[in-house]
Amino acid sequence: MSVPRNMRRVMCLEDLESPCRSFLPRALWEFASVGVEGNLSRDGNRQAFDDIWLYPRVLNDVSQRSIERRLFDKAYDAPFGIAPMGASAMFGYQADLNFARAAHAANIPFILSGSALIPMERVVEANPDTWFQAYVHSDRAAIGGLAGRAWQAGIRHLVVTVDVPVPGNRGSSLRSGFGYPIRPSFRIAFDGVTHPRWLFGTFLRTLLSGGLPHLENTGVDRGLPIMSLVAPKRSQVHADLNWEDLAWLRDRWKGKLLIKGVLSAEDTTIASRTGLDGIIVSNHGGRQLETAVPPLKVLPDIVREKGDMAILFDSGIRRGTDVVKALALGADFVFVGRPFLYAAALGRESGVSHAINLLAQEVDRNLALLGCTELDQLGSRLN
Ligand SMILES: Cc1cc2nc3c(=O)[nH]c(=O)nc-3n(C[C@H](O)[C@H](O)[C@H](O)COP(=O)(O)O)c2cc1C
Repeated sequence: MSVPRNMRRVMCLEDLESPCRSFLPRALWEFASVGVEGNLSRDGNRQAFDDIWLYPRVLNDVSQRSIERRLFDKAYDAPFGIAPMGASAMFGYQADLNFARAAHAANIPFILSGSALIPMERVVEANPDTWFQAYVHSDRAAIGGLAGRAWQAGIRHLVVTVDVPVPGNRGSSLRSGFGYPIRPSFRIAFDGVTHPRWLFGTFLRTLLSGGLPHLENTGVDRGLPIMSLVAPKRSQVHADLNWEDLAWLRDRWKGKLLIKGVLSAEDTTIASRTGLDGIIVSNHGGRQLETAVPPLKVLPDIVREKGDMAILFDSGIRRGTDVVKALALGADFVFVGRPFLYAAALGRESGVSHAINLLAQEVDRNLALLGCTELDQLGSRLN
């Protein structure tokens, strides 16, 4: 697939930021790019990677190498996937479908967000291996209903996000006018009309093709519209969710069950005892608790407690060396958030494919430069 014209100068994931910042209305850019409060966790995620040095070996004949990785009995072509991101279709036209298609073509996993604006059934049609991330309360009927719908749709990997008992304190994005629901205002309208490529290519096109976007995957039925003058009765609070709910779901969900947002060895032990198939070690990209520890720092402790679970990782991955470091520290697989969202906004499916290729090429290049032919050899390159 050819590289979109507006992405020809994008040579690494970080290059996506500047064109995306110009493309998106300010409120949307802020919503995606910021963390919480002083952005300490978001920036700390990067710092944690930068603090680790790699130790290459030479003369190992690395002419035949593979970045393939098996996860849950499936061989993927690269050790990374696309993290769940809510409201993605406000950034790029039908972004979730484009994530799904690009992930399918590249043979990597994609996790559809529980706050997505495209129904899971349509996304699974585009990519039968789509995973689903759920936001749930401690309401067994609701959890069971949503899980039943996901199973019926063909979802076999269910990820419950557990680090959002209450929303993070995203002051700057609220200031710029992006909350839930978005309240129409002169400022929001001005922000939109001053970004005509986004206005016509994403927003108006979305309105014309399907009307006002709704949260499509919050329950058995369609959820609330993303834009409204009235605040919803029930806010996005999942404070009552607890381990017993997860154990209950474990007994009923026949597919792979994971939780996302674990940062402690103790919780890893409980997750393993609960019979989960995996956890995603994550601080939500620095978007929940300010100064929550960068996941890379706790990864080795967590890996020690993993039992039979798969250890997945996200938060701050931008470079092939970041992927390599997380795997070397014991992650089985990693996920990337914001850069793929920016790629979907700028270049739709071919944009996401370009971003996937860039990262895959970096991982492959780093493998060779480290003197490795397989990802399993990376652990010995940390010292
Ligand atoms: C715009 C945006 C929306 C997100 N929405 C969700 C979501 O709906 N569910 C979820 O579990 N995580 C969500 N996340 C967090 C990501 O899944 C992931 O943990 C984080 O982006 C990883 O960090 P990175 O962006 O630095 O790669 C969102 C992140 C962003 C940037």
